[in-house]
Amino acid sequence: MQSWLRRKSIDRVTVHEEGRRLVPTLSWPHLVALGIGAIVGTGIYTLIGVGANLAGPAVLLSFVVAGVVCACAALAYAEMATLMPAAGSAYTYSYTVLGESIAWVVGWSLILEYSLVVSTVAVGWSGYAVGFLKGMGVDLPTLLTVGPHAGGLVNLPAVLITFVVAGLLIAGTRESATLNAILVVVKVIALAVFVAIALPQFDASHLEPFMPYGFVKSMGADGVERGVMAAAAIIFFAFYGFDAISTAAEETKNPGRDLSIGIVGSMIGCTLIYIVVAAAAVGAMSYTVFGQSPEPLALILRELGQGTAAKVIAGAAVVALPTVLLAFLYGQSRIFFVMSRDGLLPRGLSKVNARTGTPVAITVFTAILVAALAGVARLDEIAALANAGTLAAFIAVAVCLLVLRKRDPDRPRVFRTPAAWLVGPLAIGGCLYLFWSLPRTTQLWFLAWNAIGVVVYLLYSRRSSLLAKGSDA
Ligand code: ALA
Repeated sequence: MQSWLRRKSIDRVTVHEEGRRLVPTLSWPHLVALGIGAIVGTGIYTLIGVGANLAGPAVLLSFVVAGVVCACAALAYAEMATLMPAAGSAYTYSYTVLGESIAWVVGWSLILEYSLVVSTVAVGWSGYAVGFLKGMGVDLPTLLTVGPHAGGLVNLPAVLITFVVAGLLIAGTRESATLNAILVVVKVIALAVFVAIALPQFDASHLEPFMPYGFVKSMGADGVERGVMAAAAIIFFAFYGFDAISTAAEETKNPGRDLSIGIVGSMIGCTLIYIVVAAAAVGAMSYTVFGQSPEPLALILRELGQGTAAKVIAGAAVVALPTVLLAFLYGQSRIFFVMSRDGLLPRGLSKVNARTGTPVAITVFTAILVAALAGVARLDEIAALANAGTLAAFIAVAVCLLVLRKRDPDRPRVFRTPAAWLVGPLAIGGCLYLFWSLPRTTQLWFLAWNAIGVVVYLLYSRRSSLLAKGSDA
């Protein structure tokens, strides 16, 4: 078979050699916690401001559009993840359904997604941490708290938090998942406090004009692309994370049941939380007040004269946002791990530590990479690029769903996506529209990243692939 068409067998995708197998230690409460832990983060805590700046009060519609597209993608994920409970998520599904070269592009896009999400959330965390310390009377020098684009040298808090989380992961998945569950509760309670204070201040006049920049992305006089869809393309960041659950499939005790509950449950829960938080935010205050802030929710509470509550929100963000880092750093190291186990990246990277059962070398490598980015990058730009990688993966998963329904309709499915021929095309079309709504420069960066990927594939991975050598273990 042509190399770009060769596929892994679905039946063999969960069989691996000794010493390269991850240990199943997780069940569905861990996965729901991992899901909400990965989903609720910088998107709702920080990018809500960026989104409001791009769409005005109609950012509420942006949340709805991004939420509907993500819900469709989540349903496709649930079917694929339960069919193939193996690490690697969209990459592994593409490898078995669409062939190696598409799988490579998807894996390469996932590397971009996971790395940039970790960097973005680290920068978002830093915004709240610096604000929180300031509230406590500790003023850190700008030089060490923001990147060069904002007049600083390096975002040191963002770098430090990345390494702390990497240390947790190296200590072992299970311990990290339990700690994660506690922090998820903190994060959700903090949002509830925000809503309880901000929603009673709802003033409908703050919603006028509702859609100042229109619906479709369009270029403003200042060179910034705005509109409800431009905001949706950024806000999309707030919704994903359920895909990080599917990367834990191989470490799940009862994948059929646990993955469906984990993916669909955490997705629905988060969508409801966001709509309420966003309505409370834009109703409490004109979006022009909080749109530029690195810590918009805390700022809104301060402006409402609730200084103590603002400190609580900031403190909760500082303590709990690292759960998102944990989930995505975990997902990132697992994507590297699986691609290297398949021979598409150097095999040495897929060694699992005998004592902790975690891939130590790859976790350290990943942490260094994303910390370097977090130290110097601009929040909205890296968030947009992370979204581009994620959209590519979501499209691939929905395509896999439809292709497999046609090619192998009788294969038993633990979870069947309802109305697959409506949900699948909606996910694909919605993701394409969101991709089109991203800033032009982001689209170009994404294409450049994948051009590099294609070169790596042609020069190295195509030949070093285990499938090329006649094995698919
Ligand atoms: N959904 C995650 C967040 O908002 C990536 O931080």
